[in-house]
Amino acid sequence: MDKKLVDEINLQIKYEFFSSHLYLAMAAFANSRNFDGFENWFKVQRDEEVFHAMKFYTYLLDRGEEVIITGFDNPKTDYKSLTEALEYALNHEGFVTSRINLLMDVATEVKDYAAIQFLQWFINEQVEEEDNFRNLIGKVKMVGETGEGIFHIDLEAAKRIFTPPAAV
Ligand SMILES: [Fe+2]
Repeated sequence: MDKKLVDEINLQIKYEFFSSHLYLAMAAFANSRNFDGFENWFKVQRDEEVFHAMKFYTYLLDRGEEVIITGFDNPKTDYKSLTEALEYALNHEGFVTSRINLLMDVATEVKDYAAIQFLQWFINEQVEEEDNFRNLIGKVKMVGETGEGIFHIDLEAAKRIFTPPAAV
């Protein structure tokens, strides 16, 4: 594979693991505010991010390339409100989307058709990720963070389960 593409995918593995940490921190924050449902929701999000990281990891190894695991910065842990955490998350997903687009740019530039096919899954996934957070922000803003409304949204968030997507 093209070296720049391999380097960028290794960097992406780091960002996906960073995302998993960011959402685990948000899960703990949600718990501290007694939003047990949102705690579950963020923990599932954390599992999804580990799945993304491992998908890139497996892909590089399948292509006979070297995987390089690195450390990363501490995630933000202090949020003033659930809305602030969710907005931070949406903004972060926007960054991840720009990263996936960059990977697609590089794969296209070097005409790596297999990588283009592989990355298409992530392009679609990012649309869903951003939509998930936008929906939650909309709902939380609709009802506010105290009272019966948020209680019901929290119960709904408690139902989210992680199901690894079928192999593509
Ligand atoms: Fe991700």
